[in-house]
Amino acid sequence: MKISFVNSIEADSKSTCEVHFIYKNKDDFDLSESANILDKNTDGLLSKTLELNKFKGKFLDSFSITSNSLPCHNALFVSVGDPSKLTESQNEKLGGAIFSKLKELGVQNKVSIFVDNMMREHPAVNIALGLKLKEYNFDKYFTKKDKEETAFEVDICRKDVSKEVLENDFAHKQAMADGIEFAKDLISEPSNVLYPVSYAERVKQLESLGLTIKVYGEKELEEMGAGALLAVGQGSARESQMVVMEWMKGKKGDAPSAFVGKGVCFDTGGYSIKPSRGLKDMKYDMGGSAVVVGTMISIAKRNLPINAVGVIGLVENMVSSNAYKPGDVINSMSGQTIEIDNTDAEGRVVLADCLWYTQETYKPKTMINLATLTGAISIALGDQLAGIFSNNDDLSNQLIDAGHKVDEKVWRLPCDPIGERYDKYVDSTIADMHNVGKGGEASSTTAAQFLQRFVNDVPWTHIDIAGVTWNDKGSMTASGGATGWGVKLLNKWVDIISNG
Ligand code: BES
Ligand code: ZN
Ligand code: ZN
Repeated sequence: MKISFVNSIEADSKSTCEVHFIYKNKDDFDLSESANILDKNTDGLLSKTLELNKFKGKFLDSFSITSNSLPCHNALFVSVGDPSKLTESQNEKLGGAIFSKLKELGVQNKVSIFVDNMMREHPAVNIALGLKLKEYNFDKYFTKKDKEETAFEVDICRKDVSKEVLENDFAHKQAMADGIEFAKDLISEPSNVLYPVSYAERVKQLESLGLTIKVYGEKELEEMGAGALLAVGQGSARESQMVVMEWMKGKKGDAPSAFVGKGVCFDTGGYSIKPSRGLKDMKYDMGGSAVVVGTMISIAKRNLPINAVGVIGLVENMVSSNAYKPGDVINSMSGQTIEIDNTDAEGRVVLADCLWYTQETYKPKTMINLATLTGAISIALGDQLAGIFSNNDDLSNQLIDAGHKVDEKVWRLPCDPIGERYDKYVDSTIADMHNVGKGGEASSTTAAQFLQRFVNDVPWTHIDIAGVTWNDKGSMTASGGATGWGVKLLNKWVDIISNG
């Protein structure tokens, strides 16, 4: 779908459908500027329809009119409620809802959407983002494509802001959408296609965006002492990998912001094997790493003047004669030893080496890791919020703030300093720590406490995205499946720390 921004619609434009907005004004309706003109030119066709249909005008309520008296015969009217209260994410939802309606109506060729200055929070660019995100579908494995594929182009018309400004603002949104879509592609891939080596190869291609990408295989990881990451992957016929993405376009010498992701391409649970129900979902256990890749893509495509590094640990957690076993004691890169109580608590073991490597190598100013780490986080927060755990109030408040702005909200849960309360849950009787706590109590916090032992006082936040990475139902701005949750959040967080 091609989206263009225009300051006026040419008289000879061949629109097949126009989209206008309706505003709610206490118990009555106001028409947007373009809807008002349309109403006047059609002898009150719109106001009469509103009256006859007892239109309620809730946010996103819509109806369409087909009539010869309309300039292009078809028009879609969408209610936005109070336009002065619109937020960025509501505008995105508006875009998503318009996309769904146009598809349902079978609209072809050109669509014109009219936005006026009553609407808040960059309606044109955020509606465009919503249209784009809702268009995404992971359909590459269907041999017969959906016949109703999108067949329209969109002109978004806004008179009072120059086309160039809108195009420039949208370029940032488009870069973010590209990051989200790349992340969704990775998350949606089955694990026979996306395994550590094939994943690393896909990421390596991103050098064309100006990122510096290093791929470490098992030999190099052994030399680095990554015994924890390697232990998780040792049961798989597929070689484990660690991939590092650098974007150093900020001030020379400034410490980078680091993003670290869990990339378990398939999690069988290992010898602490998972039940077969829902097992296929474990292809998306690399969701954290995909969000890191998506975020690095957005940063590069936005050409942001910042220093950032992304580190992902890619493994498969399998059952085989070579797999790690409950009771094993392994050496991590940090020098700390780990007793494996449960081979299904593997994500934290992979991240232990990734976090340690990142803080040792880059001395980052902050480190944010994302991981589909615990089933318990979805029991606590469902699919509405991700859990955050942090050793730093400023960093977690920035993420909470960013989450509110983009509607990818996070909720802070406990994480104690080393040696205190919950941290003691990870003490082992045979090694420096074990990889599970007290029989499932505070399971998500225990996982965070484990990770914290590898961050070495760097301001750090762990985001547990196990409940939000996949959503069968879909949303106003996404079809069902991988959500790419986190790319928007991290883009906004980067904006907040860059611009205050
Ligand atoms: N990958 C899972 C967590 C998960 C569950 C992600 C559901 C997405 C959806 C993780 O590796 C895991 O199995 N965690 C265990 C930890 C337990 C053994 C301490 C869990 O949460 O049950
Ligand atoms: Zn697991
Ligand atoms: Zn896992």
